[in-house]
Amino acid sequence: MLKNNCKIRNKSVMFDAFAREYDFAASLQSQNDFFTKNLSACKGAALDIGCGSGILAFELAQYYDNVVAVDLSEKMLAIASQKRSAPNIEYIQMDASQLALDSQFDLIVSAATFHQLPNLAAALLEIKKLLKPQGKIVFLDNISEGEKPATICNIIRAARDFIPDCSTYGTRNALRLLRFRLSPSWLKYLASSRYLSERQFKKLYCRCFPGCYFVKLGGFMGVIWEYL
Ligand SMILES: C[S@@+](CC[C@H](N)C(=O)[O-])C[C@H]1O[C@@H](n2cnc3c(N)ncnc32)[C@H](O)[C@@H]1O
Repeated sequence: MLKNNCKIRNKSVMFDAFAREYDFAASLQSQNDFFTKNLSACKGAALDIGCGSGILAFELAQYYDNVVAVDLSEKMLAIASQKRSAPNIEYIQMDASQLALDSQFDLIVSAATFHQLPNLAAALLEIKKLLKPQGKIVFLDNISEGEKPATICNIIRAARDFIPDCSTYGTRNALRLLRFRLSPSWLKYLASSRYLSERQFKKLYCRCFPGCYFVKLGGFMGVIWEYL
């Protein structure tokens, strides 16, 4: 089901522009171990915030009775519904900053999305209200020390990854990945992204989820909190 309105449609445009190629890259590269190793004890309902093309939601649907997966991007959700639908997954177009969900969840996950939210602290406190007692929050997001890399650095990094990608994914896939990473829409997205430093990340999440703990995974920080 897609809950649509004009405001959401306008915001979704940036992500729509690279949805298909993002899905290609994420299908090749995504690793959901961090999430699947940290599932909640009760496997009733799970929520994925910023689900993209549904890779993680689809995996969670193997463990949970019901999965609700929300994202801003109409195109990401169209891919998710087309490639990764299941009777126990509901994809909904919704802004993570204004979640209008009338149920609570045993597990709430999010990957590589929260750095996009303008008032993250407020959004996290609203999300916390959606967690059932004994439920678990498992989030993963990009972090970065110092200034955000300039576009030229993102271009150099894309070129540098090409040779290793050839041996990992084959030349054809590596070429497609390279084209995606050099595409104007992806570079524009990276240029618009603002990441917290590790210290800022820990400070914010500790404030919103006292007693949470952190797992550093390369350029990402994972955070886990149980509502005991
Ligand atoms: C980098 S992608 C990550 C997608 C997916 N979680 C993954 O790991 O493959 C970021 C996703 O967040 C979504 N997004 C960005 N801002 C959002 C918001 N305010 N509310 C809901 N989704 C949002 C984008 O549409 C995009 O699908």
